[in-house]
Amino acid sequence: MSQATATSGILADENRDKREQIIELLKKAYWMEIETVMSYLANSVNPDGVRAQEIIESLKKDIQEELGHAQQFGERIKELYGVVPGSLDFAAEQDYLQPPEHQTDIVHVIRGVIAAETGAIEHYTRIIEETDDVDPVTQDMVIAILHDEQGHKRLFEGFLREYEAEGLA
Ligand SMILES: [Fe+2]
Ligand SMILES: [Fe+2]
Repeated sequence: MSQATATSGILADENRDKREQIIELLKKAYWMEIETVMSYLANSVNPDGVRAQEIIESLKKDIQEELGHAQQFGERIKELYGVVPGSLDFAAEQDYLQPPEHQTDIVHVIRGVIAAETGAIEHYTRIIEETDDVDPVTQDMVIAILHDEQGHKRLFEGFLREYEAEGLA
Protein backbone atom coordinates (compact mmCIF):
# COMPACT_ATOMS: atom_id res chain seq x y z
CA MET A 1 0.00 0.00 0.00
CA SER A 2 1.43 3.34 -0.97
CA GLN A 3 1.55 6.11 1.56
CA ALA A 4 0.50 9.62 0.71
CA THR A 5 3.45 11.18 2.49
CA ALA A 6 5.71 13.69 0.81
CA THR A 7 9.02 12.38 -0.44
CA SER A 8 10.81 15.68 -0.47
CA GLY A 9 10.62 19.02 1.23
CA ILE A 10 9.84 19.91 4.83
CA LEU A 11 6.88 17.45 5.00
CA ALA A 12 9.09 14.45 4.17
CA ASP A 13 9.73 11.83 6.86
CA GLU A 14 13.45 12.39 6.66
CA ASN A 15 12.94 16.02 7.70
CA ARG A 16 10.99 15.21 10.85
CA ASP A 17 13.61 16.62 13.24
CA LYS A 18 13.90 19.88 11.37
CA ARG A 19 10.13 20.12 11.13
CA GLU A 20 9.74 19.69 14.89
CA GLN A 21 12.34 22.36 15.50
CA ILE A 22 10.42 24.77 13.23
CA ILE A 23 7.12 23.90 14.96
CA GLU A 24 8.64 24.87 18.33
CA LEU A 25 9.75 28.23 16.90
CA LEU A 26 6.26 28.74 15.43
CA LYS A 27 4.61 27.95 18.78
CA LYS A 28 6.72 30.61 20.47
CA ALA A 29 5.73 33.06 17.70
CA TYR A 30 2.08 32.09 18.18
CA TRP A 31 2.26 32.87 21.91
CA MET A 32 4.08 36.13 21.29
CA GLU A 33 1.23 37.23 19.02
CA ILE A 34 -1.44 36.14 21.53
CA GLU A 35 0.28 38.02 24.34
CA THR A 36 0.64 41.07 22.10
CA VAL A 37 -3.10 40.95 21.41
CA MET A 38 -3.74 40.93 25.19
CA SER A 39 -1.30 43.77 25.84
CA TYR A 40 -2.48 45.95 22.95
CA LEU A 41 -6.09 45.34 23.92
CA ALA A 42 -5.49 46.59 27.48
CA ASN A 43 -3.37 49.49 26.26
CA SER A 44 -5.97 50.51 23.69
CA VAL A 45 -8.51 50.94 26.49
CA ASN A 46 -6.57 52.22 29.53
CA PRO A 47 -4.85 55.44 28.39
CA ASP A 48 -6.37 58.79 29.34
CA GLY A 49 -5.94 62.16 27.69
CA VAL A 50 -6.18 63.97 24.38
CA ARG A 51 -2.72 62.78 23.31
CA ALA A 52 -3.60 59.15 23.96
CA GLN A 53 -6.19 58.99 21.20
CA GLU A 54 -3.73 58.50 18.33
CA ILE A 55 -2.06 55.65 20.23
CA ILE A 56 -5.42 54.07 21.07
CA GLU A 57 -6.53 54.15 17.42
CA SER A 58 -3.25 52.70 16.24
CA LEU A 59 -3.31 49.87 18.81
CA LYS A 60 -6.92 49.02 17.97
CA LYS A 61 -5.89 48.45 14.37
CA ASP A 62 -2.81 46.46 15.40
CA ILE A 63 -4.87 44.09 17.59
CA GLN A 64 -6.58 42.77 14.45
CA GLU A 65 -3.28 42.45 12.60
CA GLU A 66 -1.57 40.61 15.46
CA LEU A 67 -4.56 38.27 15.77
CA GLY A 68 -4.24 37.58 12.05
CA HIS A 69 -0.56 36.74 12.60
CA ALA A 70 -1.48 34.31 15.39
CA GLN A 71 -3.94 32.61 13.03
CA GLN A 72 -1.27 32.30 10.35
CA PHE A 73 1.24 30.82 12.79
CA GLY A 74 -1.43 28.37 14.00
CA GLU A 75 -2.29 27.27 10.45
CA ARG A 76 1.37 26.70 9.64
CA ILE A 77 1.90 24.65 12.82
CA LYS A 78 -0.92 22.38 11.64
CA GLU A 79 0.39 22.13 8.09
CA LEU A 80 3.71 20.93 9.51
CA TYR A 81 1.82 18.13 11.39
CA GLY A 82 2.01 19.99 14.70
CA VAL A 83 -0.79 20.84 17.13
CA VAL A 84 -1.65 24.39 18.15
CA PRO A 85 -1.16 24.53 21.94
CA GLY A 86 -3.96 25.11 24.43
CA SER A 87 -4.20 28.05 26.78
CA LEU A 88 -2.71 26.18 29.75
CA ASP A 89 0.64 26.18 27.95
CA PHE A 90 0.70 29.96 27.90
CA ALA A 91 3.36 31.81 29.90
CA ALA A 92 3.38 35.62 29.91
CA GLU A 93 6.63 37.51 29.23
CA GLN A 94 5.70 41.10 28.37
CA ASP A 95 6.49 42.78 31.71
CA TYR A 96 7.17 46.02 29.80
CA LEU A 97 3.56 46.28 28.58
CA GLN A 98 1.81 46.12 31.93
CA PRO A 99 -0.45 49.09 32.73
CA PRO A 100 1.56 52.14 33.89
CA GLU A 101 1.02 53.71 37.29
CA HIS A 102 -0.69 56.72 35.67
CA GLN A 103 -2.97 56.15 32.68
CA THR A 104 -1.77 59.40 31.08
CA ASP A 105 1.74 57.89 30.83
CA ILE A 106 1.66 57.37 27.07
CA VAL A 107 5.44 57.20 26.76
CA HIS A 108 5.37 54.00 28.84
CA VAL A 109 2.92 52.48 26.35
CA ILE A 110 4.92 53.64 23.32
CA ARG A 111 8.14 52.19 24.74
CA GLY A 112 6.35 48.96 25.59
CA VAL A 113 5.03 48.58 22.06
CA ILE A 114 8.50 49.22 20.63
CA ALA A 115 9.88 46.51 22.98
CA ALA A 116 7.19 44.03 21.90
CA GLU A 117 7.78 44.71 18.21
CA THR A 118 11.54 44.46 18.68
CA GLY A 119 11.12 41.06 20.34
CA ALA A 120 8.92 39.85 17.50
CA ILE A 121 11.39 41.13 14.90
CA GLU A 122 14.25 39.25 16.62
CA HIS A 123 12.34 35.98 16.87
CA TYR A 124 10.96 36.11 13.32
CA THR A 125 14.39 36.93 11.94
CA ARG A 126 15.60 33.75 13.64
CA ILE A 127 12.78 31.71 12.05
CA ILE A 128 13.71 33.12 8.65
CA GLU A 129 17.32 32.00 9.24
CA GLU A 130 16.32 28.54 10.53
CA THR A 131 13.99 27.88 7.59
CA ASP A 132 16.46 29.01 4.96
CA ASP A 133 16.74 26.32 2.24
CA VAL A 134 14.63 23.80 4.22
CA ASP A 135 11.16 25.38 4.46
CA PRO A 136 10.66 28.24 2.00
CA VAL A 137 6.89 28.32 2.60
CA THR A 138 7.24 29.06 6.32
CA GLN A 139 10.05 31.45 5.50
CA ASP A 140 7.91 33.31 2.96
CA MET A 141 5.03 33.64 5.45
CA VAL A 142 7.31 34.89 8.22
CA ILE A 143 9.00 37.41 5.93
CA ALA A 144 5.58 38.98 5.26
CA ILE A 145 4.77 39.05 8.99
CA LEU A 146 8.20 40.50 9.76
CA HIS A 147 7.41 43.30 7.31
CA ASP A 148 4.25 44.12 9.31
CA GLU A 149 6.19 44.19 12.60
CA GLN A 150 8.85 46.48 11.15
CA GLY A 151 6.06 48.83 10.09
CA HIS A 152 4.54 48.75 13.59
CA LYS A 153 7.91 49.42 15.21
CA ARG A 154 8.72 52.31 12.88
CA LEU A 155 5.33 53.92 13.50
CA PHE A 156 5.79 53.84 17.27
CA GLU A 157 9.39 55.04 16.99
CA GLY A 158 7.91 58.03 15.19
CA PHE A 159 5.48 58.62 18.06
CA LEU A 160 8.39 58.42 20.52
CA ARG A 161 10.41 60.93 18.48
CA GLU A 162 7.62 63.45 18.80
CA TYR A 163 7.59 63.08 22.59
CA GLU A 164 11.39 63.27 22.72
CA ALA A 165 11.41 66.42 20.57
CA GLU A 166 9.07 68.04 23.08
CA GLY A 167 11.16 66.91 26.03
CA LEU A 168 8.44 64.56 27.24
CA ALA A 169 10.38 61.30 26.80
FE1 LIG B 1 2.39 40.29 14.90
FE1 LIG C 1 3.29 44.03 15.55
